[in-house]
Amino acid sequence: MFRTFRPDQMIYLLQHIPKQKPGMNMSLNPEKAILSTRPELFDFHGVSMVHYFTDNWENVQNFQARPDDILIATYPKAGTTWVSQILDLLYFGQTCPERQKTIPIYERVPFLEIAIPSLDSGKDLADKLPTTPRLIKTHFPVQFVPKSFWEQNCRIVYVARNAKDNMVSYFHFDRMNVVEPEAGEWNNYFHRFMEGQLAFGSWYDHVNGWWKKKQNYSNIHYMFYEDMIEDTEREIDKLCSFLGLSRSAEEKKMISGGVQFDKMKKNEMANYSTLPVMDFKISPFMRKGKVGDWKNHFTVAQNEVFDEDYKKKMKDPTLQFRTEI
Ligand code: PPS
Repeated sequence: MFRTFRPDQMIYLLQHIPKQKPGMNMSLNPEKAILSTRPELFDFHGVSMVHYFTDNWENVQNFQARPDDILIATYPKAGTTWVSQILDLLYFGQTCPERQKTIPIYERVPFLEIAIPSLDSGKDLADKLPTTPRLIKTHFPVQFVPKSFWEQNCRIVYVARNAKDNMVSYFHFDRMNVVEPEAGEWNNYFHRFMEGQLAFGSWYDHVNGWWKKKQNYSNIHYMFYEDMIEDTEREIDKLCSFLGLSRSAEEKKMISGGVQFDKMKKNEMANYSTLPVMDFKISPFMRKGKVGDWKNHFTVAQNEVFDEDYKKKMKDPTLQFRTEI
């Protein structure tokens, strides 16, 4: 049975068929491609979500983690791709260097909860990963993480980014990504961020929830984007200690050099240019990669409102972010 498409849908599909690369196993089946409209936010167990991240909920919740799996958890736009690339290089850079040249990051490190029609679900990609360990990405707030990760005592790397830059990065991402709700105009987005009205909910709940979890689950390494900008090599060292990896100083230096922003921006296997749901003409995935870009977006009045609200929501003095370095 063939389905007919409206001209605008056909144009969409033609424009977004992924460029096939060796090693890519992503397939686009026009029968199932229905990405022509933006998804709506809805309340999902108390968290704002869109259906692309909840449609596969049962399967995702039943995901069978293995003890050596490594989960990379973040609120969206906090540095997930950067840390994913670092971990991939630390584990497989020497043993399987072809991997980084031929397989896009979203297949090397599958996004567990994503389910986009016509593309392999993140859960299926994770199940099929041939590597040991398996590196798996999630944006889930801590209470949504499938229970087998806890039961298997998996290592978890959580990356957090200061709220102001995180908001700006997410705004530009939502402008260019059809899997996300419309960004709308900046001032409205600014308020929605403070209210947690974005996919994966409240930044404040996310970073605090994971921070609290760290107090009674010792296998979480909680990192900050700002620290990685300040000294990538130092943060790679800390990652190695957490993961029990001994890598030579030379190798760590090489990895640190290879994952700097300009290099990753040019790297087709790390910059998401092969994924069919993003429009880089609106904004590139690798946009600025800086601490402090919020100053180019926040008005003085918005900054005051934000800081006042922030104080009320971020009560734990042990969790501190830097908005400039
Ligand atoms: S996603 O879609 O949630 O997985 O996005 P995520 O990878 O978490 O975040 C994207 C932002 O991280 C920046 N980025 C980097 N910054 C510095 N150095 C490197 N190597 C790097 N790689 C990614 C990316 O540019 C996005 O931030 P903004 O501020 O928008 O530039």
